Amino acid sequence: MSQARTAIVTGGARGIGRGCALALARQGFDIALVDLLAEDMQRTRGEIEALGRRALCFEADTSDFARAAAIAGEVQAAFGRIDFLLNNAGRSQPKGILEIAEEEFDRTIAINLKSCFNYIHAVAPVMMAQGGGRIASISSLNALSGGVTAAVSRFAYATAKAGILGMTRALAKELGPNIIINAICPGLIETELPKNHVITERGAQLAREGIALGRVGKVDDVAQMVVFLATSEPCFITGQHFVVDGFQYHV
Ligand SMILES: NC(=O)c1ccc[n+]([C@@H]2O[C@H](COP(=O)([O-])OP(=O)(O)OC[C@H]3O[C@@H](n4cnc5c(N)ncnc54)[C@H](O)[C@@H]3O)[C@@H](O)[C@H]2O)c1
Repeated sequence: MSQARTAIVTGGARGIGRGCALALARQGFDIALVDLLAEDMQRTRGEIEALGRRALCFEADTSDFARAAAIAGEVQAAFGRIDFLLNNAGRSQPKGILEIAEEEFDRTIAINLKSCFNYIHAVAPVMMAQGGGRIASISSLNALSGGVTAAVSRFAYATAKAGILGMTRALAKELGPNIIINAICPGLIETELPKNHVITERGAQLAREGIALGRVGKVDDVAQMVVFLATSEPCFITGQHFVVDGFQYHV
């Protein structure tokens, strides 16, 4: 995919999304950012432009279906094509089954799972028409483990993130061979998301002790995998998920 050089990154204003957007820009991608945080997004846009690439900002809620279609149209009009989609926007949900309200469950599914559907639905026709494209979605180790000891998110988040894995496998079959689609399951990564919720000192210690590589993850650990999935050539990998967690084997 050597000519593939434009990408949409949802949740690209900060954290993992920002790191992935910058890593893709370093590989020559022009980037369209979609996020709720206008100020942070403008800062990331400046960083992408400083790398010599074009950047667009869309202040939007990724759970809005109609807005996703409109944004894909605007990106195609501005960049001419859409080569890569990174579904990254997501939010944790620390409430358990005995505390959660119906609307909190629905919102968790909407942000973490339906957003992926919205953006894949919006870009797939564009990618098909241009002869191909790639998609990666950020799931979570929670989807596989149900939540390790230090995890801030519980069953609703795990449910949404596990849904991404089913969606990825099914769509790899529906959209192949033109579109390659994979998922990434990060373990604990240092960003704003876990900082917004209380990770106890004991939890953090348990996480460090339980990680084979002896540290929590960094944004660049995930970005490296994203760049691989967006650019590796040739590519015989689709419908898969890749765990990036330093091997959190007993936390
Ligand atoms: N940090 C971790 O330990 C970790 C582990 C596993 C998976 N993840 C996943 O990685 C992704 C990025 O997380 P992060 O740690 O960088 O979090 P973060 O909170 O630092 O960044 C998330 C970004 O997504 C944006 N966003 C959230 N909801 C949105 C919405 N509805 N519409 C548009 N933008 C929205 C936020 O504004 C923010 O810029 C998420 O999907 C998260 O579930 C994170």
